Amino acid sequence: MENKNNIHPVFDRILQRADKEKMLHQKAVVIWFTGLSGSGKTTIAIGVEKELNKLGVLTQILDGDNVRTGINNNLGFSEEDRTENIRRIAEVSKLFLNCGIVTINCFVSPTIEIRENAKEIIGENDFLEVYINTPFEVCEQRDVKGLYKKARAGEIKNFTGLDAPFEAPLTPFLEIHTKNQTIEESVEEVLNKVLPIIQNK
Ligand code: ADX
Repeated sequence: MENKNNIHPVFDRILQRADKEKMLHQKAVVIWFTGLSGSGKTTIAIGVEKELNKLGVLTQILDGDNVRTGINNNLGFSEEDRTENIRRIAEVSKLFLNCGIVTINCFVSPTIEIRENAKEIIGENDFLEVYINTPFEVCEQRDVKGLYKKARAGEIKNFTGLDAPFEAPLTPFLEIHTKNQTIEESVEEVLNKVLPIIQNK
């Protein structure tokens, strides 16, 4: 029988996050992008990462399509699996955070409860929720991965925004309306908000 009493964490003896942040001259945070599939989360994250890289900030992007082919390749899109997906991502993000790395997460993370869970694991002060607000119709029209077409044809079940819910954040750290602006403008909006926090070291 498994016994949790036999587990002895050594968090108090390993090098602290503050030591690593000092070495990197940056303050670590998790920038958490939420939004519909195809809303632009990963595209904006890539732009943000590029700019941060130029400024000497160490980053790591985590995104749904990548993580779901690796650590989470046993999970689907039921509510239960999405909850587990985000729980694991939040735990992984916390490891990066403790390495002093700015982590940029791109997950649909469709419900308030799922994101609350993530915030709880990561810690409220380190969790910057960015809502990539692109209307369903716009995502469907862009349909970069052809998933909207498949979902409409009934080939994908539980598709977010169609037959699975998306609950917009009520008080996000930042909300980006991508519909009428360029990728560069969205990237700049994110940078303007996060840079003062990251460079506060
Ligand atoms: S989450 O809901 O658990 O946060 P996640 O961000 O990991 O989702 O994965 C979403 C990506 O998986 C989408 O961008 C899309 O490419 C793909 N996908 C496949 N099936 C679905 C579905 N039923 N609903 C939403 N996205 C899906």
